[in-house]
Amino acid sequence: MRIDIFTIFPDFFKVLDVSLLGKAQTSGTLEIQTHNLRDWAEGPHRSVDDTPYGGGAGMVMRADIWLNALESVLSSLPENSSEEHASGSQQAILVPSPSGVRLTQELAQRLSTYQQLTFCCGRYEGIDARFVEALKDQEGPEVIEFSLGDYVLNGGESATVVAIEAIARLVPEVIGNQESLTEESHGESGLLEYPIYTRPAEVAGLGIPEVLKSGNHADINAWRHDRALEKTAEVRPDLLQIGGKARANLSTYDR
Ligand code: ADE
Repeated sequence: MRIDIFTIFPDFFKVLDVSLLGKAQTSGTLEIQTHNLRDWAEGPHRSVDDTPYGGGAGMVMRADIWLNALESVLSSLPENSSEEHASGSQQAILVPSPSGVRLTQELAQRLSTYQQLTFCCGRYEGIDARFVEALKDQEGPEVIEFSLGDYVLNGGESATVVAIEAIARLVPEVIGNQESLTEESHGESGLLEYPIYTRPAEVAGLGIPEVLKSGNHADINAWRHDRALEKTAEVRPDLLQIGGKARANLSTYDR
């Protein structure tokens, strides 16, 4: 998978060189390129923003600079040759924004199958609305404005790091043991994860549930399912409600 990140703070993304994502870059499974938006700005200050039409607080990032930056990098990607298009390679442009759609495990899963992702990190009060409008008007990659949650960050950089980690770890070969992905929170069951334990058998006067030492896998699975359901009902009851992802699991609750 190739990931391009446009930002005025390229250093922010050094964190992606660490741990599993760093290894995935070294092995070539993942290629991450950052681009400084100011490279497409003009004038002595390489300014990328201006005051908002209609007045109001703060500054707005200029759509023309954003569009030029994306055009010059994306048009040169091999994925954009007509041959690659024919083979169905998928691309998306992702714009972090508090007014975007929620980044869910399901969206991360879908994006993990794409060949190329472009992240556009806005700062200040955000990017001129015509940037996304113009991208959507073009017959180019899918455009998704996404939000991490109902709170406001200083810019899209931290949201982009979170999104890349959520997406890239689902790319086969990024995480050695793919099995570890199947039973985690927000996985296929739609439930939060059951509690897990390791040695020593006693910590701070607390032991581990007997069933986990029984060697009976049917009992262990049933116990884990019940704990997952209990935890979900306690902290995320919305996941069990009609339309919630875990609804189908309710029938096994009283086993
Ligand atoms: N940029 C600012 N706030 C954000 C949020 N909640 N999610 C994604 N991007 C953002």
